[in-house]
Amino acid sequence: MKNNTIMIAGSLLLTSILTFSFYGIGQSLASGNEGYWELDDDDDDYRHSSTIQNPLYAEECGSCHMAYPAQLLPGASWRRVMQGLDQHFGENAEVDATTGQAIEKYLLQTSDSSSYRKLFRNLGDRVPLRITDLPYFIHEHDEIPSRFIQANDKVGSISQCNACHQNAERGQFDEDNVFIPGFGRWDD
Ligand code: HEC
Ligand code: HEC
Repeated sequence: MKNNTIMIAGSLLLTSILTFSFYGIGQSLASGNEGYWELDDDDDDYRHSSTIQNPLYAEECGSCHMAYPAQLLPGASWRRVMQGLDQHFGENAEVDATTGQAIEKYLLQTSDSSSYRKLFRNLGDRVPLRITDLPYFIHEHDEIPSRFIQANDKVGSISQCNACHQNAERGQFDEDNVFIPGFGRWDD
């Protein structure tokens, strides 16, 4: 009798440990992106610790341009982007309501938890729709001549991050990995 009680108590304990840890795994899968931005010592090198992207996001938002890492815009901007998908920079990028909610949730969670804060410098209260409208972004790119961008048919637009930043999909934008197609490595 005494042994039985101990066994039942033991298996209950085991069950709850298992349930709890499966719940934990479920949670991390649900959040889809366990990564975070790391700033190394000189504060100039940004790495995303994870290449895992949310598959739904990658599929719905990665066909016309790369699926921009959520860390590149503040949450308020993502909300605006998601609200205007029927008129999305001259395209219709609408998704159904359930898909839209899931993507927005992913973007907001990821942006809030691990934003690339340096990019949001001098932004104030503005809520830009574009990464390329962030003051820090403009400051970093304003010396690139247009023959490297618009007049370069391998790039076409400054919004095509991955044309020049070889590790953009992994959230890496450090200056050492910039290669301008048709021109070569960026050296300044
Ligand atoms: C049908 C094509 C298409 C789809 C699908 C699409 N986009 Fe876009 N997106 C565009 C175009 C076109 C631009 C403007 C690019 C340019 O100016 O070169 C753009 C630009 C953007 C920008 C601003 C980039 C910058 O310049 O900083 C963001 C952010 C963005 N899209 C997010 C999304 C999200 C989120 C989704 C999925 C819900 C999505 N896009 C799906 C066509 C699309
Ligand atoms: C035409 C090529 C090109 C495109 C397209 C481009 N970039 Fe850049 N980017 C550069 C160059 C060149 C630099 C380095 C500028 C310098 O030397 O100061 C840079 C610098 C940066 C930096 C600063 C890195 C650091 O070490 O401080 C960030 C962040 C960045 N880009 C993000 C982006 C994002 C996000 C996009 C897309 C929305 C993008 N870039 C599109 C060429 C490009």
